[in-house]
Amino acid sequence: MKNIVVVGAQWGDEGKGKVVDILAPHFNIVARYQGGHNAGHTVRIGERKFILRLIPSGILHDECSCVIGNGVVVDPGAFNGEIEELRELGVECEGRLFISARAHLILPYHVALDRVREERLGANSVGTTMRGIGPAYEDKASRCGIRAGDLFYPDLLREKIRANIEEKNLELASIGAETVELDSSLDEFLAEALRLVPFIRDTAAMINTATRDGKSVLVEGAQGTMLDVDHGTYPFVTSSNATAGGAATGLGLPPRNITGALGIAKAYTTRVGGGPFPTELLDKHGAYLQKRGNEYGAVTGRPRRTGWFDAAVAGYAVMLNGFDALALTKLDVLDEFDEIKISTAYRCHGELLEGMPYGANVLAECEPVYETLPGWKANTSRTTNFDELPSAAKDYIRRVEELCGAPVALISTGPDRTETIIRNDSPVSAWMK
Ligand code: IMP
Repeated sequence: MKNIVVVGAQWGDEGKGKVVDILAPHFNIVARYQGGHNAGHTVRIGERKFILRLIPSGILHDECSCVIGNGVVVDPGAFNGEIEELRELGVECEGRLFISARAHLILPYHVALDRVREERLGANSVGTTMRGIGPAYEDKASRCGIRAGDLFYPDLLREKIRANIEEKNLELASIGAETVELDSSLDEFLAEALRLVPFIRDTAAMINTATRDGKSVLVEGAQGTMLDVDHGTYPFVTSSNATAGGAATGLGLPPRNITGALGIAKAYTTRVGGGPFPTELLDKHGAYLQKRGNEYGAVTGRPRRTGWFDAAVAGYAVMLNGFDALALTKLDVLDEFDEIKISTAYRCHGELLEGMPYGANVLAECEPVYETLPGWKANTSRTTNFDELPSAAKDYIRRVEELCGAPVALISTGPDRTETIIRNDSPVSAWMK
């Protein structure tokens, strides 16, 4: 059995899309288990650039089937738009892309509420992607959510949506926000949503039948460990379990059938939105990382905050997800630094902390404890062989491994699929057999 979960080891945007794209041809199914179109997985193949927000990156490989699991929240308009974009690029989705009947849908009132709540939080806003993700998960938990399978029962569905709109409008009106117009909103939504019907299946049953028949599943995480609703920098998190455990509930894949986990970490750190970021660089180095690393959100276009590699963050991710290995991306972005820093731990009010502090409020008061390593001052972009890396770059990678407690099995040295080092005799090379 080979069912591997790929999870971001930082605050998202680590380059999961590229890694999933490299691994996908070695798997039968690629599945998403959480999040929605707040994710932005950029994949570059030659001159062509794809940004996948909701549909698993495996869709770019004809031989893969793709699943949007029950743990994902689906915006019908976004889904249809992505299908169209892919069609224009010559990628057909029908017959090999499936949405769980149990996946919750994002409705216009979720988007309205996301926006209004963020505005009201002002300086304390989470900095969400404004896609309605949080409010859709709230409805799931409070048992008034609309699920993809409800589309098979249009009369009941209309009734449920009507009741929800009335309820949401009370909330919107109470805070002086514009309410959602009932009939037009319902009709518009249904026009988009009913186009999902041919894709809807009992995907948990599909996946379990497939694994019983010897098929393999590559499970594609979105966001990252530090954005996990339970383990991340709460409340500056997304509203789902981005960590590996979410793969079991978000797909209906039994935990014992998840046979491996790969963590993706950038060679430095980035974060979009609000919340603490101990290694953030607000100086010329941070600006350089942003420019050289092209650190702008794939979904919202927002500039990403940048900072040095934080081994406390990545080590915490190794612990929570049980990573067999790490993939270190964007190594080449560090090529020109004279010196490179890694944060090994935090100090809070003079005290050295072990592990990850409890909450965002404590983390905000932590200072990173830095170790300085010499830069390699050489071009590593497009390198495909570990032995050809400058010795200072190899030392940097070895130090990351030591501090995080996991081997670095894959190193990305450029945006293209081919600009990648896959280390021999590593978990990743074994999964690619
Ligand atoms: P939401 O997921 O839109 O509710 O946003 C919650 C937080 O997660 C915000 O800080 C977002 O910037 C962040 N976030 C959501 N999706 C991603 C992603 O794919 N990459 C990086 N950050 C994300």
